[in-house]
Amino acid sequence: VSSENQQILAASEWVVKLYHHLLRFTKDGKKGYQYLKDRGITDETIDAFQLGFAPEAKDFTASFLDKKGFHQQTLIKSGLLSQRDDNGVSDRFRGRVIFPIRNHLGKPIAFGGRTLTNQEPKYLNSPESELFQKGRMLYNFDLAKKHIRKQGEAILFEGYMDVISAYQAGVQHGVATLGTSLTETQARLLKRYVDTVIICYDADESGHDATYKAAGTLQKAGCSVKVANLTDNMDPDHYIAEFGGESFWNDVITSSLTFTSFYMRYLKKDFNLTLEGDRINYIEKVLEHLAMIDSAVEREYYLKELSNDYDISMESLTQQIQFHRQQKR
Ligand code: GTP
Ligand code: MN
Ligand code: MN
Ligand code: MN
Ligand code: MN
Repeated sequence: VSSENQQILAASEWVVKLYHHLLRFTKDGKKGYQYLKDRGITDETIDAFQLGFAPEAKDFTASFLDKKGFHQQTLIKSGLLSQRDDNGVSDRFRGRVIFPIRNHLGKPIAFGGRTLTNQEPKYLNSPESELFQKGRMLYNFDLAKKHIRKQGEAILFEGYMDVISAYQAGVQHGVATLGTSLTETQARLLKRYVDTVIICYDADESGHDATYKAAGTLQKAGCSVKVANLTDNMDPDHYIAEFGGESFWNDVITSSLTFTSFYMRYLKKDFNLTLEGDRINYIEKVLEHLAMIDSAVEREYYLKELSNDYDISMESLTQQIQFHRQQKR
C-alpha cells in the first residue's frame, strides 16, 4: 500500500468514527439517528455497522481532517472531499446517513450516503480508487464470511439496507453488490467459500433481470444458484420490516426456488401465454433449458410441471427433450 493510500485509510477510519459519533450522540446527527430508528434499526446494529451521519455544513469534514494534518489532495483522491469550481473544496457527503464500506479485512475504504429526503441520487458513493474497486469486493464480506462458511451458503443482496436488516434479523451470511451487476471476480470470490449462492434481489423487473444475469455469472464460476422466494415488488429489507425475520427465514430464504423454477417463471415475460403460438414457443424455450440438466430425475420433475400446466403428454415432451439433448452433443 502506497503511503498516500495509507493516509486515505487513516482518514477513512477517523471519518467512520466521526460520523458514527455524530449520529449516535449529538444533536447534529439526530436526523440521521431518527431516520434509522424509523426504519427499525437498533442501536446494536448501528454500532455493528458503524452507521453514521454526515452533517449539512459544507466543510465540516474538510476542517476536521485538516486539523488532523491530512493533505487536501489526498482527501480529494479519497473522495471524502470534492473540488469545487472556485478552487475551494467541500465535503462530499452532506446531510446523509453514512454506510461505511469495509474491505475484506474490515478496514473502511469507502462510504455510501443515503439522502433523508428524496434528493437525487438516493445513494451517493465514494468514487472508485486504487483502494475501492466496487467490482472486486462485496459489501459486508468481512462480517459475513464466517457465517457463510457455517451455513454452507451465501445470500446475495442488492443493497446496504437489505444486508443490514437481514443481519439484524439473525440472517448473517448476506453480502451485497451495491446496485451494480455481479462481476466474475465477485462470483469467484464467493465460490472460494461456498458452492451455493441464494440470490435475493428486489422482486421488481430490474431485480429479476439482474437475478438472471447474476445467476449466469455465478454458474460460470461453478456455483449452484437458488433464488429467494420474494414476490410483489418487495425488497428484502421491506419484507423484514413488514413480516419479521422469522418469516423472512422460513418463507423467503428456506423456501428459495431452484434456478430452473425461477427461470421458468422469468421466461414468461417474453411471451403472451394466452396465444397458442407463444405458448408453444415458451415451452420449446423451457425444454431447451431443461435439456441441459444432467439429472434425469430433475428433468422429469419439471417436465411433469409443464405437462400439467399446458396439457401436453409426457411422451411428447420427453421426445422433444431427447431431440434437444442430441442436438447439444
Ligand atoms: P432504500 O430505499 O434505502 O431501502 O434503498 P434500497 O437498497 O432498497 O435501494 P435500491 O433497491 O434502489 O438500490 C439497491 C442498491 O443500489 C443500494 O443499496 C445502493 O447501493 C445502490 N443504489 C441505489 N440508488 C443508487 C443511486 O442513486 N446511486 C448509486 N451510486 N447507487 C445507488
Ligand atoms: Mn433504485
Ligand atoms: Mn432495486
Ligand atoms: Mn431495494
Ligand atoms: Mn429498500
